[in-house]
Amino acid sequence: MNPKDYQSHNDGEETRRQLAYIDRLTECVTDLKDGLGRAPKACVVTFGCQMNARDSEKLLGILLTAGYEETEDEADADLILYNTCSVRDNANQRVYGRLGVLKGYKKSKPWLKVVLCGCMMQEETCVNKIRTSYSFVDLIFGTHNIFKFAELMCDTFDASGHMITQVWDETDKIVEELPVKRKYAYKSGVNIMFGCNNFCTYCIVPYVRGRERSRAPEEILCEIRQLVNDGVIEVMLLGQNVNSYGTNLDDPISFAQLLREVEEIDGLKRIRFMTSHPKDLSDELIDVCARSEKICRHIHLPVQTGSDSLLKAMNRSYTRDHYLALVDRIRTAIPDISITTDLIMGFPGETSADVDDTIDLIRRVGFDNAYTFEYSKRTGTPAASMEGQLSPEEMQSHFDAVLKVVQETARQSAAKHTGEVCDALIETVSDHDDGLVTGRLSNNLLVHLPGDASMIGSIVPVRLDVCKGFYFLGSKI
Ligand code: SAH
Ligand code: SF4
Ligand code: F3S
Repeated sequence: MNPKDYQSHNDGEETRRQLAYIDRLTECVTDLKDGLGRAPKACVVTFGCQMNARDSEKLLGILLTAGYEETEDEADADLILYNTCSVRDNANQRVYGRLGVLKGYKKSKPWLKVVLCGCMMQEETCVNKIRTSYSFVDLIFGTHNIFKFAELMCDTFDASGHMITQVWDETDKIVEELPVKRKYAYKSGVNIMFGCNNFCTYCIVPYVRGRERSRAPEEILCEIRQLVNDGVIEVMLLGQNVNSYGTNLDDPISFAQLLREVEEIDGLKRIRFMTSHPKDLSDELIDVCARSEKICRHIHLPVQTGSDSLLKAMNRSYTRDHYLALVDRIRTAIPDISITTDLIMGFPGETSADVDDTIDLIRRVGFDNAYTFEYSKRTGTPAASMEGQLSPEEMQSHFDAVLKVVQETARQSAAKHTGEVCDALIETVSDHDDGLVTGRLSNNLLVHLPGDASMIGSIVPVRLDVCKGFYFLGSKI
């Protein structure tokens, strides 16, 4: 893969500035290389969601273009970058834990650069903590000025060891046409919008990612066409709430209209999207999905809880009946669709009756899978100061009760597909057995089948022989 594959044709002033900084950074990296007598290595570690993963591909693209080589081993790296997430406290704690280890590396390798970016850096308390407890960090930047990475990296080479911190509160800029190093040759995420306007009361994302901004459809389509020319057959359209895509553009367009246009791109085989907020999912979208040859038979539709009073307290803007009716409409139009969800347990005030409501909803929908999270208090969000915060024991018991039902339901849903023949996109050689490859079905289920690396990136028909709970053993037919 060529790290220099530029993403789109937009040649804005800012892009030209940053490309010039990439050239300058290349000079700095060349000097470092001469000093070390080998190419310096960069390790980029991503926490959090698919949007962060996509951002990391851009950061790595810049580093590789400037002359770093990629490594996955932090101990071997001359630059370590953590692209952080702050959606739950355990994500923050993991970063602090790892920073403690880096302190030792930095002592034995003074030229090592430690770079922190992403959602955690948008929180002042995190930045302050890093300033006082991890002062060896070279560079901190946030989510809004990520496009300035090359420029800020140049500053670290001029700074002779001082920490550089640049975090913006917001931006209206979308600077997208810089180098990218994709993780997978055959599939890619594509940002269609940034930020979130929903302010669910537990959630930090609107504070760290700012207000909703949609990319122009022609830029998205252009990027996808380029990706397809470069061998991509599956795209995942990314946004915190893709269903409200386009409403704030000068020429508003709906997400469903965008999908219709993406569908027309020759050579593109599969389209996925993430995440759909139930309050904005339109009948137009259901119709487009139902007619589509390319949109995968999977929708991730986070419900969070089955309790009406908690949905209200969470500011989710729908009721359980609304959600159940929506699921019915989706299943009537697209019977073979898989529906997955996110659930938060232990939101302030959650009672065992609320947990029963959630369990009842899970059973009624029969989710194909669900991500279950313990509520994590995020400073600055309305829920953090609500009464009725649960004890760790209550939280755990609510979580365990829901997880049990989620697993039962997911197993039952998967088992129904035994014996079916489906197309699988082969993604990797299996970690556990190099005689097996792993493929993903349109409905997002995974299947392991005999094969080798030459199959990666191809779509093959597979019979689902044995259900192993959440995945299948299969055979190519
Ligand atoms: N925009 C997406 C979700 C992004 S965050 C949506 O609304 O669907 C991914 C998931 O993290 C959320 O769906 C929610 O289940 C979980 N989450 C967010 N904030 C959380 C918190 N404070 N504690 C626990 N889970 C949280
Ligand atoms: Fe967070 Fe709600 Fe926005 Fe999703 S829709 S990112 S849960 S505020
Ligand atoms: Fe985490 Fe930021 Fe994504 S908080 S979930 S990385 S938008």
